[in-house]
Amino acid sequence: MPPKTVVITGCTRGLGRAMVPLFIKAGWHIAGCGRNAAQIAELSHQFPAPHHFQTCDVSSESDIAAFCATILEKFGPPDLVLNNAAIITPNAPLWETSAADFSRIININIKGPAAMMRHLLPAMLKRGSGVIVNFSSGWGRSTASDVAPYCATKYAIEGLSMATAQDTGGKVAVIPMNPGIIDTDMLRSTFGTGAGDFPDANDWARRAVPYFIKLAPKDNGKPLTVPGG
Ligand SMILES: NC(=O)c1ccc[n+]([C@@H]2O[C@H](COP(=O)([O-])OP(=O)(O)OC[C@H]3O[C@@H](n4cnc5c(N)ncnc54)[C@H](OP(=O)(O)O)[C@@H]3O)[C@@H](O)[C@H]2O)c1
Repeated sequence: MPPKTVVITGCTRGLGRAMVPLFIKAGWHIAGCGRNAAQIAELSHQFPAPHHFQTCDVSSESDIAAFCATILEKFGPPDLVLNNAAIITPNAPLWETSAADFSRIININIKGPAAMMRHLLPAMLKRGSGVIVNFSSGWGRSTASDVAPYCATKYAIEGLSMATAQDTGGKVAVIPMNPGIIDTDMLRSTFGTGAGDFPDANDWARRAVPYFIKLAPKDNGKPLTVPGG
């Protein structure tokens, strides 16, 4: 069987970065992106072709168009798309969050995954298979104080994923995924040093990658959580 292809947005740090070597070890080809050009160059050096790493800001329609065109040209329709890239705003109630920060989180966390799906789903549907995992959060299913903008984006990811799943009918599975709580830059920005009480990204990736590889049409539209997360 030809190798499968996984697309990972936000693979320069955190959960995205930790998954890269595990997919490669499992024999998959990777197309990954992030904004940090130095990290993208480092990934390209460490994991050369057939893998492909490209700078892409998921809040930019033109960056996403270019990234997805390259993916389709190099690999054809991907087998698995992990819409992982996201940010969190500094801890604060909504009324202390600037309009600019609110727009930024909406553009990255909601419009990013939506644009990736808009660009990749037609080819995936045409082939008639594949899985799209949109990274949600515990804060996409329950709320907390000081994180209202982030909660708003992750609740949106749940709705966007479940409704898109109804449109694909499972031909391509679209799944909102809560990864759990993991010690990354993002968690440190909200939990401070308390983030150290949680598993690190490499430990998480060892559970998550085999789980993602097994996702199938039966999972279409189901809000799932990484086991042990
Ligand atoms: N860590 C947790 O406990 C936790 C809990 C629930 C949900 N999640 C979700 O899990 C996912 C990964 O989180 P994480 O903890 O690994 O976060 P992280 O450590 O902050 O890493 C975020 C990744 O996303 C990339 N990114 C951010 N903005 C981007 C943009 N505009 N365009 C392209 N890439 C962008 C970053 O790379 P660049 O800086 O190079 O762009 C980085 O590679 C997110 O969707 C997050 O909401 C995490």
